[in-house]
Amino acid sequence: VKDEEEEMKKGSEELIATLPVENRGDGLPLYLFKGCWCPSFAFRGLIAADLHFQAQDSDIILASLTKSGTTWLKALIFSIVNRKKCALKDSPVLTTQPHDLMPFIEFDLYRHGNLPENLHQLPQPRLFSTHSHYSLLAHSIRHSCCRIVYVCRKPLDNLVSTWHFLKPLDENHQDMDVIVAYWKTDFGPFWDNVLGYWNASLENPDKVLFMKYEDLKVDIVFELKRLAKFLGFPFSVEEEKEGLMEEVSKLCSFEKLKNVEVNQIGKRVGTGAPVNAFFRNGKVGDYVNHITPAMVENLKKLTEEKFAGSGLVY
Ligand code: A3P
Repeated sequence: VKDEEEEMKKGSEELIATLPVENRGDGLPLYLFKGCWCPSFAFRGLIAADLHFQAQDSDIILASLTKSGTTWLKALIFSIVNRKKCALKDSPVLTTQPHDLMPFIEFDLYRHGNLPENLHQLPQPRLFSTHSHYSLLAHSIRHSCCRIVYVCRKPLDNLVSTWHFLKPLDENHQDMDVIVAYWKTDFGPFWDNVLGYWNASLENPDKVLFMKYEDLKVDIVFELKRLAKFLGFPFSVEEEKEGLMEEVSKLCSFEKLKNVEVNQIGKRVGTGAPVNAFFRNGKVGDYVNHITPAMVENLKKLTEEKFAGSGLVY
């Protein structure tokens, strides 16, 4: 395994040297790989996972752009899938950071191109996550029967959330207008990442479920029911009557998760982000407080153009 790892890492270095590179805004390099702005901390892992990750049909993969509701969906999916194994009051969601319940393939599992052992021994269904474009997912993820949930968020709110998230990581944090002008986000461009999963969900709705952060905010119980059914863990009539969906929603709510200790203190391994940065205010439409009306118009127009003809309205 070590030889193979070394060989692969060498291959990744050679490839990186040929790729266009840009600054994310805080100094972190983003490499343009097959149309995806891949952050340096994930590139080697993306390549390694493509070659080595073996999906199982029962796997559940959460895909998203950063700052789209990933943390929330991890808590929800974990709770749906494990609700018979553990009472909600004793849920690991209360003691474990959601990102550790559903690790990222490209920078948790295959960190820096290292090959993880014993993935096949994890309990089923295995829960993983990714920020990668659909087209760059490991071959076996796209071609097995595993399920993919994609969560998407309005670009303007995503942008503002990204800006706040990068702040503690960046000593020379830039003005919002600079960020808007050069919006190069991890695993972007934003619109291409979204459209890849949107189109995949239209082509194969049993494999890819497309969800919107804003829909979850409007009617969490309805969306939770849809999610559980898609995952193959539907809520029974009894569970519905007992109000279990409401209980899961409450357990995973912004207010609840923000206030548990494990989400308040410490840093996330890998990205170095403070864990409390994953819980800011969790609102829809907060962008009006941060972006000028002219910038809002520009981004809305751009998004309309990018999504034109796709059937996706945002
Ligand atoms: P804001 O910065 O707008 O508050 P991600 O998990 O993909 O990194 O996304 C983080 C965003 O989701 C942040 O948005 C965060 O506050 C919000 N968020 C985190 N947990 C949430 C929850 N349980 N419910 C709603 N929003 C949540």
